[in-house]
Amino acid sequence: MRMVVNGIERTIQASPDTPLLWVIRDECGLLGTKYGCGIGVCGACTVHVDHAPLRACILPVGSLAGRHITTIEGLSSDGMHPVQKAWVAEDVPQCGYCQSGQIMSAAALLARHRHPSDREIDAAMAGNLCRCGTYARIRRAIHRAAR
Ligand code: FES
Repeated sequence: MRMVVNGIERTIQASPDTPLLWVIRDECGLLGTKYGCGIGVCGACTVHVDHAPLRACILPVGSLAGRHITTIEGLSSDGMHPVQKAWVAEDVPQCGYCQSGQIMSAAALLARHRHPSDREIDAAMAGNLCRCGTYARIRRAIHRAAR
């Protein structure tokens, strides 16, 4: 099957029930998307599928023929994405493991809602867990990116 990953059309060799996460990491060699829980609850594996933030660990690749997948590596084709710049400015990460998923969810939120409130940010980001508790900095960075 074929799908587009970060703007590049690829022929995928994996069996249809392989989770997208492993195709991204093992077949495409894109290691920015992380494995956390494997059951769709932590958000570490968040990617965009046709601009929607989805959990790559529970998405069978066979359901994605012809779809456009964006990972953290492809979020911006022109330097850092505004969300990534805000992440740096607010010094958001602590251990960093969950942050690519956080950034992908934040970018998707801002793409559909240019100036989200705290409540809207919390609702949109609720599925992205951070064991270091960087939530306050994440919220500040999203507000910064929305300016
Ligand atoms: Fe996919 Fe946790 S690894 S949601």
